[in-house]
Amino acid sequence: MREHWDLEDGISFLNHGSFGATPRAVLESQSALRRRMELEPVRFFRDELEALAESARGELGRFVGAHPADLAFVPNATTGVNAVVRSLPLQTRDEILITDHGYNACSNAARFAAARAGATVVTARIPFPLDDEDQIVAGILEAVSARTRLAVIDHVTSPTALIFPIRRIVTALAEAGIDTLVDGAHAPGMLDLDIEAIGAAYYTGNCHKWMCAPKGAAFLHVRPDRQDGIVPTTISHGANSSRSDVSKFRLLFDWTGTHDPSPYLSIPAAIATVDSMVDLGWAQVMQRNGELARSARDLLVETLGIPNPAPDRLLGSMAAVPLPDDGDPSSTDGGQPLRDQLLRDYHIEVPVPAWPAWPNRLLRISAHLYNQPDEYERLTRALQEIGISGD
Ligand SMILES: Cc1ncc(COP(=O)(O)O)c(C=O)c1O
Repeated sequence: MREHWDLEDGISFLNHGSFGATPRAVLESQSALRRRMELEPVRFFRDELEALAESARGELGRFVGAHPADLAFVPNATTGVNAVVRSLPLQTRDEILITDHGYNACSNAARFAAARAGATVVTARIPFPLDDEDQIVAGILEAVSARTRLAVIDHVTSPTALIFPIRRIVTALAEAGIDTLVDGAHAPGMLDLDIEAIGAAYYTGNCHKWMCAPKGAAFLHVRPDRQDGIVPTTISHGANSSRSDVSKFRLLFDWTGTHDPSPYLSIPAAIATVDSMVDLGWAQVMQRNGELARSARDLLVETLGIPNPAPDRLLGSMAAVPLPDDGDPSSTDGGQPLRDQLLRDYHIEVPVPAWPAWPNRLLRISAHLYNQPDEYERLTRALQEIGISGD
C-alpha cells in the first residue's frame, strides 16, 4: 500500500493522526484542479467554482451522512470551532463546557470567546485510563450547570485517542437544553459517520486527516435550526448578497475571500482513491485500520507491561497508552524528548502527547493503509531498548 503515498523511505510513519498523509493520486488530482484554475482564473472562480464545489459537497454529504445544504467548507476543524464559538451571543456568566481530553487549539477558541463576553469555560474531568463509556457521559454531565450554553465535545479525542459515545452525549445534553459543538476532527474516514443521526447543533470535521484529502479540506455542519447567526470568522461578499437561491449560512461561508479551493474540491478524489485501494472499499479501510491499531496497542501494553487504558470498543484507527514515569521532568513537557529520540535514533515518527491530566507521558499510535504490523514491533523494540517498561 505504501507505494500509493510519497512517504519518505526508511521512516515508520505512525502519526497519521496529526496532519494526515495524502496519496499521490489525490495530489495529482489536486494539481490538475490547480492547473485548471490558473488556465483562466476569472473563468474558474466566476463560472466554474460553484458547480465544482456543489459536486464535492454532495459527495462529502453522502460520505458523512449530512445534507449538503447544511455543510460549509472550512480549511480546518480549528476554523470550524472558531466560527461557532465566536458567533454565539454569550452573556456574562454563561458557561461553555469543554473536557480535559479536548484539543488545546479548540479549547483556546472556547476560552477566547468566553473571555470576550465575560463568560467562563468549565472543564469536565474524564478519567484515563477508563473502563467504559459511562464514565465519559457521567464526567460531562457532572460539569453541566444551569448556565451551560454550549458544550464543545470531541468525537475522537486527540491525546487519549478515545471514541466518545457522541450520540449519547449529544442527546443527554439536549435533554438538559444544551447545544453541542462536536469536534470531529478525526472522525471522517476513521468512523462510519452519520452526522444527521448524531443530531448535534454543530459538527466540524477534517477531511485532511483520515479521509486523506489534501491539507486544508474540512467542513462545518450546522443544523438548519441553528444556522441563523453562525458566521465565518471572515465576513465577505455573502453578507449583503441579494441571492435568494442559497441560504445566508451558505452565502457567508462559501466565499471568505480569494483562496485556493483545490483541497476541498479534491475530497471526491480522496474518497474514490482510498476506496479503490482495498476490495471492499471504505468499510474495509476503517475496519482494517482499527484492527491494526488495536493489535499494536495490545503488543505495546503486553510487551512493556503497562496498563491497557481503554476497552477496544472505544478505539478507532488510533490508540494511546500511558508510559511509565521515567523520572525525567522534561519528558512530561509535551513528551518531545522521547518523540525526538525515536525519530532521530530509530526513524519512527510517533507522538508523545502532552495531556496534563496524566502525570507522565502518553504515546499515541495511528494506523492507516500504508502501515504494517512490523512497524509497531520496531516501535516496541525501540521503547524496550530505551528502557521504557512498566515492570
Ligand atoms: C480533536 C482535534 N480537534 C481539532 C484538531 C485541529 O485540526 P486542524 O489543525 O486541522 O484544525 C485536531 C488536530 O489534530 C484534533 O485532534
